[in-house]
Amino acid sequence: MFSFISKKYIKENLKNTPYKIEVKNSVTSTNTVMKERTLKEDCAYNVLIASKQTTGRGRMGRNFYSPTRSGVYMSVVLEIKDSENPLLITTDAAVCAARVLEKMSGKDTSVKWVNDIYIDGRKVCGILTEGVGKYAVLGIGINVLPPKNGFPDDIKDRAGAVFEKEKKHLREDVIIAFLDEFIRVCKNTDRNLLLEEYRNRSMIIGKEILIIGENEKATALEIADDYSLIVKKENGETVKLSSGDVSIKL
Ligand code: BTN
Repeated sequence: MFSFISKKYIKENLKNTPYKIEVKNSVTSTNTVMKERTLKEDCAYNVLIASKQTTGRGRMGRNFYSPTRSGVYMSVVLEIKDSENPLLITTDAAVCAARVLEKMSGKDTSVKWVNDIYIDGRKVCGILTEGVGKYAVLGIGINVLPPKNGFPDDIKDRAGAVFEKEKKHLREDVIIAFLDEFIRVCKNTDRNLLLEEYRNRSMIIGKEILIIGENEKATALEIADDYSLIVKKENGETVKLSSGDVSIKL
């Protein structure tokens, strides 16, 4: 039942968009491949999708488990305008992913600052945006279905899948819905609305978190206008955490 992702189906159903779609059965990391490409040619809106990654990467040098034929691993190359903050690509993509996964699955989605999407307390999607010169490579990994052999021991308690059962072209439909939504948001950006939605979908506000690296506990207070996270540490100090520097755990 589990099959490779079909480029033909995606191209037939994703109309009138600037994307140039490429689909591979297996790559090292779609982000790594696209980062290399930005150094060689003009590749704005090139999209690389893989059915499997052998060395999928997450934020802070972590791995992203990318088993064959159950997830979507995709990188979109974008040209960054001078005035643009590349962090907003991650947060906008998170809102888009949350919207489409919620609509398609009928399940509530929430965002764990800054780049993870959760369903029923489990991470189902991660986003990694990397800058190379004038380009940003937006990488998104979605656990559409549970992997054939389950999640590995080290992540099995916190990783989850959006859907339980395979359906024909389910992964392609997720890709199409995300790319459509993302381009719609790029063309018609309402910054205030996106920030408000990001805040509303945030699952950590009011919760106790662990600041990884610093190994310190804090309470998440709010998402600031620049998407940094304001927290109150145990010693009573209020600090602003920047997504580039820290990672948090609930
Ligand atoms: C995270 O969980 O910290 C981010 C995960 C991002 C995974 C995606 S899958 C497609 C792209 N290629 C990669 O190697 N990583 C991103």
